[in-house]
Amino acid sequence: MRRPLIAGNWKMYKTIAETRHLVSELVPGLQAVNGVEKAICPPFTALLAASALLEGTDIRLGAQNLHWESSGAYTGEISPLMLAEMCHYVIIGHSERRTYFNETDEVVNLKVRAALKNGLVPILCVGETLRENEAGRTAEVVTRQVREGLKGVDLASEDAPGGPTDPGLVIAYEPVWAIGTGRAATAEGANAVIADMIRATLSEKFGALVAQGTRVLYGGSVKGENAVEYFSAPDIDGALVGGASLKAADFIRIVQAAAGG
Ligand code: PGA
Repeated sequence: MRRPLIAGNWKMYKTIAETRHLVSELVPGLQAVNGVEKAICPPFTALLAASALLEGTDIRLGAQNLHWESSGAYTGEISPLMLAEMCHYVIIGHSERRTYFNETDEVVNLKVRAALKNGLVPILCVGETLRENEAGRTAEVVTRQVREGLKGVDLASEDAPGGPTDPGLVIAYEPVWAIGTGRAATAEGANAVIADMIRATLSEKFGALVAQGTRVLYGGSVKGENAVEYFSAPDIDGALVGGASLKAADFIRIVQAAAGG
């Protein structure tokens, strides 16, 4: 009942010209796949060009970050109001932002709330570092990131964007040690974190309906070759794909895998 979502996180790759090229390669292949929601998240500078090329397709656009205020004297920042003109999704709290730009759970929470308020669907990223994993702290870290990231958010209410069966929020479980390393988590391990920690926390906070209706993706070294095993795990509803989203054939292959072949 949860529709799979495959989202490409382009990170700081692709100029406008390169974006035009990649999107034009992606569109025919992605359009041919049904039953899977597809999204790409190019850098800010390429969003407008991508949005023009995606018009009339069912491929959705997302941003990789946002500021939490609608406008103001925040040199260099981009507001949710600006993104809402072009984007459906926005990635929030990616581990690279938490690590390199000091994003705390508090900042992540401000961003999640601002996105929801402006009609954007947050893809909230959570995940433990290698050190936390080895210290047996995965449950504590992931649970805290979900709980704090969603503080003050009321997804069970009638105003939730898609109602309680489609709460208008996506969570991505991305163990930091698996991102860009080629060392992917096992499907079984990722599924256990998602079911026992992420859905359990959602259920505690918002009730079972929201916990079962929320899509939770896996991210971290997902490739054409390993995608199928993730998508056959019952609690993994798709993937947030970094490196493999930068080549049309690789990304299309992952989307095809999510569609069951
Ligand atoms: P990766 O990145 O697929 O290159 O590991 C995933 C991500 O950072 O979202």
